[in-house]
Amino acid sequence: MRAQEIRQAYLDFFQRQGHTVLPSASLLPENDPSTLFTSSGMQPLVPYLMGEKHPAGVRLANSQLCFRAGDINEVGDSRHNTFFEMLGNWSLGDYFKKEQISWLWQFLTEIIGLDPRRLYVTVFRGNESIGVERDETAREIWQELFRQAGLAPKVLDYSSPINLDEGRIFFYGEEKNWWSRSGAPDKMPVGEIGGPDSEVFYDLGADRKKHENSRWRDKPCHPNCDCGRFLEIGNSVFIEFIKTADGFAPLRQKNVDFGGGLERLAMAAQDLDNVFATDLFWPLTQAVEDLSGRKYQENRLPFEIIVDHLKAAVFILSDPLGVKPSNLDQGYIVRRLIRRALRYGRVLGIQKKLWLSSLTPLVGKIYENSYDYINQQASDTGQILAAEEEKFSRTLARGLTEFSKLSGTERVSGQAAFNLFQSYGFPLEITTELAAEKGLSVDEEGFRQKFREHQLLSRSAAAGKFKGGLADHSEMTTKLHTAAHLTLAALRQVLGQHVLQKGSNITTERLRFDFSHPEKMSPEQIKQVEDLVNGWIKADLPVKCEEMTLENARATGAMGVFASRYGDKVKVYSIGNEIISASKEICGGPHIVQTGQLGVFKIIKEESSSAGIRRLKAVLN
Ligand code: ALA
Repeated sequence: MRAQEIRQAYLDFFQRQGHTVLPSASLLPENDPSTLFTSSGMQPLVPYLMGEKHPAGVRLANSQLCFRAGDINEVGDSRHNTFFEMLGNWSLGDYFKKEQISWLWQFLTEIIGLDPRRLYVTVFRGNESIGVERDETAREIWQELFRQAGLAPKVLDYSSPINLDEGRIFFYGEEKNWWSRSGAPDKMPVGEIGGPDSEVFYDLGADRKKHENSRWRDKPCHPNCDCGRFLEIGNSVFIEFIKTADGFAPLRQKNVDFGGGLERLAMAAQDLDNVFATDLFWPLTQAVEDLSGRKYQENRLPFEIIVDHLKAAVFILSDPLGVKPSNLDQGYIVRRLIRRALRYGRVLGIQKKLWLSSLTPLVGKIYENSYDYINQQASDTGQILAAEEEKFSRTLARGLTEFSKLSGTERVSGQAAFNLFQSYGFPLEITTELAAEKGLSVDEEGFRQKFREHQLLSRSAAAGKFKGGLADHSEMTTKLHTAAHLTLAALRQVLGQHVLQKGSNITTERLRFDFSHPEKMSPEQIKQVEDLVNGWIKADLPVKCEEMTLENARATGAMGVFASRYGDKVKVYSIGNEIISASKEICGGPHIVQTGQLGVFKIIKEESSSAGIRRLKAVLN
C-alpha cells in the first residue's frame, strides 16, 4: 500500500467509527507561544483533552505534520525523522481502552494488512508511588485479540529475568510506557496532562539482532531493546491524569490520544527495513544517488540526513504561517537543517551548484495530492533555499579549511566553535560532528556562552530548549506582550467573562490575539476596548511580578492562560495600583515596568479565527 493510501484508509476507517476528520494544524504552532514547532497531534488539542468542548465533537482524527528538533541526532538509523506525519485519533472523554485497542488492531491487521505474528505490544507496569495501577485492562484486551488471531500471547514483565524472546505482550515502567509532552511523570510540570500508554511494535526479523556485528547479539530481545529488530509503529496514550503539586489527580474525563508515524507504517506495510525507501522518500533518496553517483545502501547515513533535513526545511519554509532562515528560533532551526544537509552533500562528493534547492519540486511531487501547497509554493521555497545554499556554500569550504587548522588541540574551545559559526556559518552540530570524526571534543557550553553574549539567539533556542518563554525579547515585543494582558482584561470587561485567551502571536510589528467570543465585535465594542487599554496606559500603572504556587495563583484570581506549561512555581503579573486593578495573569514574562511606556494602543483588525474564536490584531504607536 502506498503511504497516501494508508493515510486515507486510516482517516476513512476512523471516520466510519464516528470521528470527525480535522486538517493538520500548522507546523508552526499558532496559539502556543511556548514552543517552536508542533511535535505531536495532541499538541493543538490540549485544552479539549482537559475538558473544554471541541466544536467538532468528542471523536477526532487527523494526520498531523510534526517536527521534532530534538530528534535531529537520531536521524541516520533508518527509522527516525525530524519531520514526519503522525496519524492520530482522539477520544475526548468518550471511548476508552477497549475500542481504541480493538480499532487499532483492526486497522493494522485488516486495513493495511500487517501480519499479526509480527506485532508485539507493551503496556504500563504501574507505579504505586504515583498512584497509577498496572494496566491489566489493556493487557487483557491485547491478549484476547492475539488469541483470536491464533497466537499464544505470552505476557512478560521486562523486569523479570526470563527469556524475553518468547513474549508477545510486555509490561514496562514509566520510562517507556508513560506519555506526556514533557516525558516521564517526574519530568512533568504541575498542570500538565498525561498518562500510561500502550505501544505497538513491528518485528523486522530476529536475524537483525543475531547479525554478527550486533551489540545485542547475545542479549535477550524485547520490543524496546534497540537492536533494530522492533519498530515502534503506534502509541495509544490514555490521558487521564493531571500533574498536581502532590502527585497526580484524575482529569475530569478519560481521553485517548493515539499517534502513529505514517512513514513507519508505510515502512511496515511495504515490508522495508528503512523509511527512506518508502514512497514518501524514495524519489528524493534516488535523486541524491544520481547527484552523488553513490548508492544509498552502501552508506545510508549521509543520504538519510540530507533527505530528512531537506524535506523538513521545505515543509517549514512552505508553512502557511511561514518562516525564513535566520539566526532566531524557527528560522535558526531551518538554517541548521539546510547547512547540515549541505555538509553531508560534500561528504557524498556532490559537486553540482545549488543541488539542494533543485530538489524542492520533488518534495512537492511526493505530496501532490495531500499537501498541494508544497507544490504550489515550490518555486518560492526553492528560491529561499537557493539563496541560503549560495550563502553557505561560499563559506563552507573555507570553514572546513579553518577547522582542519584546529587539529593540534584535543578540545575545540567555545571561542573557536563560535568563530566557526560567526565567520563561516557553522552551526554547533557541524563543528561537533567534524570534531568527533577527528576524535576531538567541543566546549559546547563555552560556545553557548559566546552565543548568548552576542545575543544571536533567543534564550530558549540557545539552551536547546524549545519550550517555555517567548521567542523574542526585544523591546517592542515586550511592550506588545504587556499590551496582550491589557487586551484580555479589556475584552472581558467589554464583552463578558466568557472571553478567554485562545492564543497569541507577537512580532516586532503587532500583536495577534485569539479569544473565545461567539460573534463579531461591533465598532463600538472595539472602540471601548481601545479606550480602556489606552486609559490604563495613561494611568501609567506599575506592572508587578510575584512568584507563587499554581494553587495560590488561582486562589488570587489570576487568569491562567498557559498555566500547564510552567513549573511548580508560577509567575503572576499584576497590572494596577491601589485604585485600578487592570489585570492579573499567570505568565512567564517578560513585561515592561510601567504601562505609560506603551504608547497608543490601536486595534487594526477583528475577524473570525475558527468556530467560536475571534482574532484581533493590534499595534502600539
Ligand atoms: N501523543 C503521543 C505521541 O506523540 C501519541 O507519541
